[in-house]
Amino acid sequence: MTRRIGICTGGGDAPGLNAVIRAFVKCSLKEYDWEVVGIEDAFNGLLDEPRRLMVLDGPSCQGLLHRGGTILGTTNRGDPFGWPSKGGPVDRSQDLADAVREEGLEGIVCIGGDGSQAIALRLMNERGIPMIGVPKTIDNDLSATDYTFGFLSAVEVARDALDRLHTTAESHDRVMFLEVMGRDTGHIALSAGIAGGADIILVPEIPYDPNRLAAKIQQRKALGRPFTLVVVAEGAYPMGMASVAPKERKAEIAASGGAGPLAMTLLRGLVDAEMRCTVLGHIQRGGSPIAFDRILATRFGVGAARLVAEGRWGQMVRLRDNHIEGVALKEAVARQRSVDVNGELVGTARATGIEFGG
Ligand code: F6P
Repeated sequence: MTRRIGICTGGGDAPGLNAVIRAFVKCSLKEYDWEVVGIEDAFNGLLDEPRRLMVLDGPSCQGLLHRGGTILGTTNRGDPFGWPSKGGPVDRSQDLADAVREEGLEGIVCIGGDGSQAIALRLMNERGIPMIGVPKTIDNDLSATDYTFGFLSAVEVARDALDRLHTTAESHDRVMFLEVMGRDTGHIALSAGIAGGADIILVPEIPYDPNRLAAKIQQRKALGRPFTLVVVAEGAYPMGMASVAPKERKAEIAASGGAGPLAMTLLRGLVDAEMRCTVLGHIQRGGSPIAFDRILATRFGVGAARLVAEGRWGQMVRLRDNHIEGVALKEAVARQRSVDVNGELVGTARATGIEFGG
């Protein structure tokens, strides 16, 4: 009886998802002769009627390595424990377990971020569905792995944007703000800021004092550099908001037009300079993965196949000290990784004169 293994992609997309699928399928066919069953739109493909599944074979994987997005589709609203319905969220986790059994799936490889992995853990613990996790997010804030694929591709997009903003800022003697993604953490802003030569980097881990930013801009002007590049993580906020609860704080930032426009507005009152703001948004999520992410995604896909072959359900593949290994899903979802404000990368940025506002 051929073993049938399910695979799905959940949460926000990221460059490299298709490379993981491709590697898992190629390894499964070459070394184990399994049948790989793609589940569309996270777990929805097993809960919708008719079910939306696709058998993944060699031809399915052609041209996937460099292709952004996910051929399986994904969703941020795919929680089987809180299934959206007219009357409000419904627990359909048992329906999912029934569907897995009816489809003859031995288990599911779930490629996703912290939210998806937390759901996978619950499905395993509460409904007995064998799960293997593959970490994915452009935010790179899963503490159980040194890197998630998609992160450095997003950093590269932001770096390119900064290079472009540099020439126009210099030409117009302007202060240019670039808002980047990172739902709760500032990894993209920090790395892109260093790579793109930003003068100021604002991250949620370091609430900023607008007066310090104004002083930096004035200092640059006095040194004959009357333009400034400011990278703003979408969760960054001024010190005045530090005592506001995170949920309310995010609402206040959104009401101000976002973290980038908010920082610009605060500085407009302190600095005599023309200012503009660019919000990079989902451009950081789209497009083809860079080489690093194609390699990491391929390593994760093969690593997931090894975990399945060894029967190590309940684990997630991860990169640790440049080795691919398995880690218990419960450890993987335990803690989000914030920017280390006392770490080497922030220290390096400060040592080159980059201002964080705090
Ligand atoms: O978690 C990845 C991420 O891109 C965050 O950086 C961002 O805040 C969020 O997803 C955007 O989610 P959505 O695609 O639902 O707008």
